[in-house]
Amino acid sequence: MTNIPAIIARMSIACIGAKDSMELISTSLKIMRKNDHFHNPSIHPDSSPRRAFLRSGVLIGTFTGLAGLSLAAGCNEETGEEITPVEDLMREHGVLQRILLIYDWCQLKLVSGEQFPPDTLIKSAQMIRSFVEDYHEMLEEKLLFPRLINANKLVDLVQLIYIQHHAGRVLTDQILQMGNADMQKNTENAQKLAELLSVFTRMYRTHAAREDTVLFPALRKIVSRHEYYAMGEDFEKKEHESFGADGFEKVVEQVADIEKQLGIYDMSAITPAV
Ligand SMILES: [Fe+2]
Ligand SMILES: [Fe+2]
Repeated sequence: MTNIPAIIARMSIACIGAKDSMELISTSLKIMRKNDHFHNPSIHPDSSPRRAFLRSGVLIGTFTGLAGLSLAAGCNEETGEEITPVEDLMREHGVLQRILLIYDWCQLKLVSGEQFPPDTLIKSAQMIRSFVEDYHEMLEEKLLFPRLINANKLVDLVQLIYIQHHAGRVLTDQILQMGNADMQKNTENAQKLAELLSVFTRMYRTHAAREDTVLFPALRKIVSRHEYYAMGEDFEKKEHESFGADGFEKVVEQVADIEKQLGIYDMSAITPAV
């Protein structure tokens, strides 16, 4: 059986640059599209990657997603306010978007050769790892995608989103590896890091926008109101377990601190006088 995750993992080991990372994504897709079993599951119905993917979705949904779902009505016990899972995911995308703006800024400085505090980029990449990849995407992969797969909704898009999550993690590994106090001393390394940031931001802006406008709205249509709000409750619990009761606010403060350090926090500075 063709093992898509294994193929991606093997390619990731060899992946050393931004150009390679983009090839990782496109080559993975080509492999999936060219695979006879993928296009024609009737040849070997039980061994197609698509069916394996769907099976994994069912299993993930059964053992992790649904098992973690609170049966209580979706209402925050502390505030009494209803919290929706999409609201939760979209405000996390807000954090992602702010870090992408920081990446933009760092990329410009790396290209121009202007110095900037290296810890701003390193801390930002660490937040992408801990908050976006290890937490936000974990929620999507364990609690959202299995529901869409089980409902046979947007399966092709979910597959691509899953591949992009993996590609994002590979890129973050490389950014963390290259991001250090000496990253601007070597011009070639600085340009390579700038290219990595560019590839990352381009993919994730599209990724988050597609999730906001297509995937997340689809969730509301496939679950009952009760399940939808129970998911929100479950998301909140997981956030508190991972980052503490006011974890989200602390993460936003950390992003704001980096923006202030770089001089890009003040919104009035970019507001045109019209
Ligand atoms: Fe995602
Ligand atoms: Fe997302």
